[in-house]
Amino acid sequence: MSVLVIIPAAGSGSRFGGPVPKQFQPLAGKPLVQYVVERFLMTDAARIVVAIPEPLLTTVKQAPGDRVQFVAGGETRQQSVIKAMSAAGDGYDVVAVHDAVRPFFRIDTLGTLIDAAQQHGAALPALPITDTIHATRDGRLSATIDRSNLVAAQTPQCFRYDILRDALARAEREKFDATDEAGLAAHYGYQVHIVPGDPFNIKITRPEDLALAEAHFEEWSK
Ligand code: CTP
Ligand code: MG
Repeated sequence: MSVLVIIPAAGSGSRFGGPVPKQFQPLAGKPLVQYVVERFLMTDAARIVVAIPEPLLTTVKQAPGDRVQFVAGGETRQQSVIKAMSAAGDGYDVVAVHDAVRPFFRIDTLGTLIDAAQQHGAALPALPITDTIHATRDGRLSATIDRSNLVAAQTPQCFRYDILRDALARAEREKFDATDEAGLAAHYGYQVHIVPGDPFNIKITRPEDLALAEAHFEEWSK
């Protein structure tokens, strides 16, 4: 079984702010994206494609036989994933897509997700919502959303290769842009299996998240 890993790392980190996109911010002395790449290098993934901002392509070293490949990302996360998929070519059974800014994901859950993807077509880790969620209009509450059917999506999200390829190709034709690949697969009618997420697998979105990651680094990276 051959696994392709895609790491979209080409965002601008607008909510994080600062001069350097957040995926290159140091956590305990190392850029966030490096943790993610190193963790996947510990797996038997056939190839790891990292989509980075185009101007940075000249700064990375790449040898032909390397398992890790860097490509220029796109305008949206989905575009970045499409570009990474095209660069990787085909011949894979499963694709795992993982945010560059989730440094604490656990390798042991990857196996569960890959198995679920092979069985059901697609799988993602997700957590139940704990906060009460309200809809708003003009800065005021308009309705309370029933959270019993809501989950918060995490990554790695895993897919049978043909399914992700098909969903991305259809989205490209229809100019449909989804915020994650699991949502995209579901949009095109594929069954997406939910695996319990991990509360420590946080996404670094704002500076407070990095502060939290720094404070819990030892404990959460076990
Ligand atoms: N991403 C990407 N290409 C884009 C946009 C996002 O590869 N055009 C990646 C980010 O680098 C990140 C992941 O998708 O690893 C998750 O996205 P998010 O946390 O939203 O990062 P940004 O889009 O960079 O941040 P923001 O939405 O605050 O601008
Ligand atoms: Mg974003």
